[in-house]
Amino acid sequence: MHVRKQCPWKVGMMLGMVLTVGLWQGAAAQRDEINYDESKVPKYTLPDPLVCLDGTPVCDPQTWFDKRRPEILALFEKYVYGKSFGRPPEMWFQITSLDENALNGMAIRKEVTVHFTRDPEGPAMHILIYIPKKAKPPVPLFLGLNFYGNHTIHPDPGITLSRAWMRPNKEYGIVDNRATEESRGKAARRWCVEKVLDRGYALATIYYGDLDPDYDDGFQNGVHPLFYRPGQTRPAADEWGAIGAWAWGLSRAMDYFETDPQLDATRVAVMGHSRLGKTALWAGAQDQRFAIVISNNSGCGGAALSRRRFGETVRRINTAFPHWFCENFKQFNDREDQLPVDQHMLIALIAPRPVYVASAEQDLWADPRGEFLAAKGADPVYRLLGTEGLAVDDMPPLDQPVMSTIGYHIRRGGHDVTEFDWEQFLTFADLHFKKKVNPTRR
Ligand code: GCU
Repeated sequence: MHVRKQCPWKVGMMLGMVLTVGLWQGAAAQRDEINYDESKVPKYTLPDPLVCLDGTPVCDPQTWFDKRRPEILALFEKYVYGKSFGRPPEMWFQITSLDENALNGMAIRKEVTVHFTRDPEGPAMHILIYIPKKAKPPVPLFLGLNFYGNHTIHPDPGITLSRAWMRPNKEYGIVDNRATEESRGKAARRWCVEKVLDRGYALATIYYGDLDPDYDDGFQNGVHPLFYRPGQTRPAADEWGAIGAWAWGLSRAMDYFETDPQLDATRVAVMGHSRLGKTALWAGAQDQRFAIVISNNSGCGGAALSRRRFGETVRRINTAFPHWFCENFKQFNDREDQLPVDQHMLIALIAPRPVYVASAEQDLWADPRGEFLAAKGADPVYRLLGTEGLAVDDMPPLDQPVMSTIGYHIRRGGHDVTEFDWEQFLTFADLHFKKKVNPTRR
């Protein structure tokens, strides 16, 4: 079986200086510790999502919503992703472009800038939205962050080219940490825009670097400094890292959707791949306005159980990406058993809203079995709340999706977002949006 290559992580610095750092010191030593052998998975006991910290069993939905759910959410805030902040009071929306006849007349293309402060030149994120013209508004939608700018999701020349800092990537036409014309459409294969529109969904996307550029700079750029208290220079140990900021951006996009009569904010499926899959789960866990949550190959710190220590581990992720989680998470390097939560409880926070976990056979770094077991571990909560949970006991065969309220598939191939994945996400959305609109929306 092919194991995903762990490419050296390149850290770019602002001001034109690009500092390429080999993964990090001791990389080789660490890599040797990575386990891909199922028989070497340590014995572990998962914390019970249906027992409160004081020992009270959770036997009814009210105890879940009033007591246990807030408790679990607070634990994830304190020890894993860090506490996030709310909507900035001065935030405002600006429609910066509108084409009623985009993609050969198939779609309306809209670009919306969300300004986080009054200053039009201040920190902001840019949402690209395609709305199928054949659908009757308000239209349900998929929302996802992208890795290299909105202009990468389709070759459409009408998409504004991002001017933000990007991670180095020759294949994507990134020069000196900036996108170029050559970058257009480079990620189109991963977005299936026409297919999504044809199935009657709008598609919205934001470049994740608008919220926080993905490198460790001690949280000096991105949205973190907007929330510093006087004298504060970096988030406290229980305050958000980069994943928290990216997830926060998804909620700010939801704030915009609620104002747009063409979009149905009660039927938003938030989707993300890999680190952005971790982000989609955390966004969906915190913000109950998201009606469906989809994790694609999210792995460690996403859908995969940390206690299995299969593929990427807590130590490895905290060392290679020290800025993703909150500082407190580092206490659990090599001490996964001490975590008061595991990732099945993150999925449980989404209950009873439909959640879909997608794995890939060759993506062992993300621990497909650990992703399935976390989905299964959330099942008792989904059942308590009156759904069928995850309707299988064992991992399904390759390419055979399970479409219960917790959905799951493992497909052939490696770490990627494929057309097969999108087809399942669309079918899952069809099924669940038809049944009922977001039951937890308040
Ligand atoms: C690395 C990292 C993963 C992450 C992935 C990605 O492989 O170790 O945790 O999911 O990058 O986001 O592409």
